[in-house]
Amino acid sequence: MFICEECGYRSVKWLGKCLGCGSWESFVEEIKVDKKVEHEKLTPKAVREIEISSNHRFKSGIAELDRVLGGGLTKGSVVLFSGAPGIGKSTILLQAMSKYAANSNAIYVSGEESEEQIKSRAVRVGIEDLKVISSTNIDAILNACKDASVVAIDSIQTMGNSDISGSISQIRESISKIINLAKTKGISFIVIGHVNKEGKIAGPKMLEHMVDTVVELEGDRDLQYRILRTVKNRFGSINEVGVFKMTSSGMEEVTNPSELFISNSTSEPGSIIAPIIEGNRVFLVEIQSLVSPASLGIPRRISQGMDSSFVQILSAVCEKSLNLNLSSRDIYFNIPGGIKTKDTSIGLALILSIYSSYNNRPIDVAAVGEVGLTGELRKVSFLDLRVKELARLGFKKIVVPNKIPVGKGVELIVIKNIKEIPGLLSD
Ligand code: TYD
Ligand code: MG
Repeated sequence: MFICEECGYRSVKWLGKCLGCGSWESFVEEIKVDKKVEHEKLTPKAVREIEISSNHRFKSGIAELDRVLGGGLTKGSVVLFSGAPGIGKSTILLQAMSKYAANSNAIYVSGEESEEQIKSRAVRVGIEDLKVISSTNIDAILNACKDASVVAIDSIQTMGNSDISGSISQIRESISKIINLAKTKGISFIVIGHVNKEGKIAGPKMLEHMVDTVVELEGDRDLQYRILRTVKNRFGSINEVGVFKMTSSGMEEVTNPSELFISNSTSEPGSIIAPIIEGNRVFLVEIQSLVSPASLGIPRRISQGMDSSFVQILSAVCEKSLNLNLSSRDIYFNIPGGIKTKDTSIGLALILSIYSSYNNRPIDVAAVGEVGLTGELRKVSFLDLRVKELARLGFKKIVVPNKIPVGKGVELIVIKNIKEIPGLLSD
């Protein structure tokens, strides 16, 4: 039987295009195996009888990476490292592998680059002591890695074997072989998977279900900053992010992201500082709006870093509650630095930035608060942590939805509705 991996459509023949969902090359063969295991005897066990073997973790020493992996790379686990082409996956992995190599048997396998290409990249990022293999033959590779403790496969899309054809079944077959070796020999694997334009890992979605951990590297290729995010982790929390910066000699970790996303000249009209929570960390970003006369009939709302429906809704709330004539204006929104956020607590900062740009006057406050449709301020999670981070970086005047205890020198301005904004600025 052939089964579509996207929708589960069944067919006795292999099909290039699925009749069920229209996906291309999504069919894999499923072979029925005789069920001899039916009579296996299973005995239920009390929870207290189950012993937990302490999972050994390999630390790379790159704190931003170790944290995203849940405190290190678990022995015998398979990590899928995904991201768009050119984002920096090979670079970061090569650097991490050289750190693992310092106290374990680590091998970096590339199916994308020749030995010379790997060497020139390694030299660029200052690496000499790492064993590498350049090949796409998964069986030969796994055979050569039997005694390793940490293996990187760059990338799963290039791996295969002559006896299977069709890219998707090849990927599935290769990952199965990797997982099998990881579990039987206790070898940890980090496997790179390219993501296509739609943001899906090229190849079957099921790749994500098969591996233990999925991390994703995101960011704008043209900007320096990269965020590594845990998407799935059987051995840790998924609420982790690591921040990196691409430099001319490899990826550098950014331990203090707040300082990186805010500029020195934030007292310009249209710019307000807001704290966002990514994973378990708070950092500050600059929310920018540019209100300008509409050039076409329909006013435009163009946003970068924020959801476009989010900025449209808040523009409408701002227009109504603050009585601004925005229907004849275009508004451009941006969070500099290539950060994307879904944190709705930036709503108040966004509205303040619109108001500031509209009136062409700077507003010298930072802001935290979610804004509802009637302009009411709503409480946000971890307000104390957000205010603390603002205070740490020297922001003393902060508009918030509710009062909390703060340190000396920090002034909280509590507002209940955005209608109070004009009064705030009357000085
Ligand atoms: P790469 O790691 O090859 O991306 P991926 O494996 O995700 O496809 O890195 C891509 C880009 O990074 C490439 O355009 C060159 C640039 N780069 C640097 O800026 N600094 C460096 O030290 C290296 C090795 C690459
Ligand atoms: Mg690469």
